[in-house]
Amino acid sequence: MNLFWNGLVLEMTRGPEIVGELVRLRPIEAKDAQRMWESLQDDESMRLTGTHRTFTREEIDEWTQTVSSRDGRYDFAMTSLAVTKEGTVSDEMIGEIVINEIDDIARSANMRLQSLPQYRGRGYGREAISLVLDFAFSPQPHGAGLHRLSLDVLSINPRARMLYESLGFVQEGVLRDAHFDGENYCDVILMSILEDDYESSTS
Ligand SMILES: CC(C)(COP(=O)(O)OP(=O)(O)OC[C@H]1O[C@@H](n2cnc3c(N)ncnc32)[C@H](O)[C@@H]1OP(=O)(O)O)[C@@H](O)C(=O)NCCC(=O)NCCS
Repeated sequence: MNLFWNGLVLEMTRGPEIVGELVRLRPIEAKDAQRMWESLQDDESMRLTGTHRTFTREEIDEWTQTVSSRDGRYDFAMTSLAVTKEGTVSDEMIGEIVINEIDDIARSANMRLQSLPQYRGRGYGREAISLVLDFAFSPQPHGAGLHRLSLDVLSINPRARMLYESLGFVQEGVLRDAHFDGENYCDVILMSILEDDYESSTS
């Protein structure tokens, strides 16, 4: 979305900065293009997320420049809050977490995430999802004011599935053999969390 003010077009970014203990979330920016490009070169990530599409570098440049001003979605870059040898905290993207397909009437949306391989298994994903759940179910204008957040996960991805379950996502159904990973068929598991589930898990 753009705001017009005094003849100028001001580009609005959607989504706040959210700071946790390990990870910080901020809207994706043009400078994240290289890291996003690297994540798309990771075959394991492509397999686990079920991504078949290929992207050109130009498409990634354009996407990172514009995605945070697009309606109907929040695209967060994850950055690490670990203090470097130089005593600073890096603003480099270590992964992305996205709320998209927002339906304003049903107050529902989809969520997806992935981190770069070198940042996996360190608790960043768990905390990023917790921060996004808090944002998703907090009332507007500070949160997204959602009622339901859903996702799908492949049966070949037990790490992600168990992580979602441990954070309150509930399995809704299984689309048997709905995905072909290049060698084998696998199931697509549908999961969701409702605002009531979230409130009872945090109270
Ligand atoms: C899924 C992903 C985002 C998780 O982020 P992460 O930072 O690696 O996750 P965390 O370190 O916070 O937590 C991983 C959890 O999975 C557990 N885990 C790790 N490997 C596992 C496995 N093979 N089976 C089950 N659980 C596993 C860990 O013990 C940890 O649980 P804990 O927090 O209770 O200790 C990340 O691994 C990733 O990007 N994977 C590739 C892309 C992907 O699968 N995206 C999701 C598509 S649905």
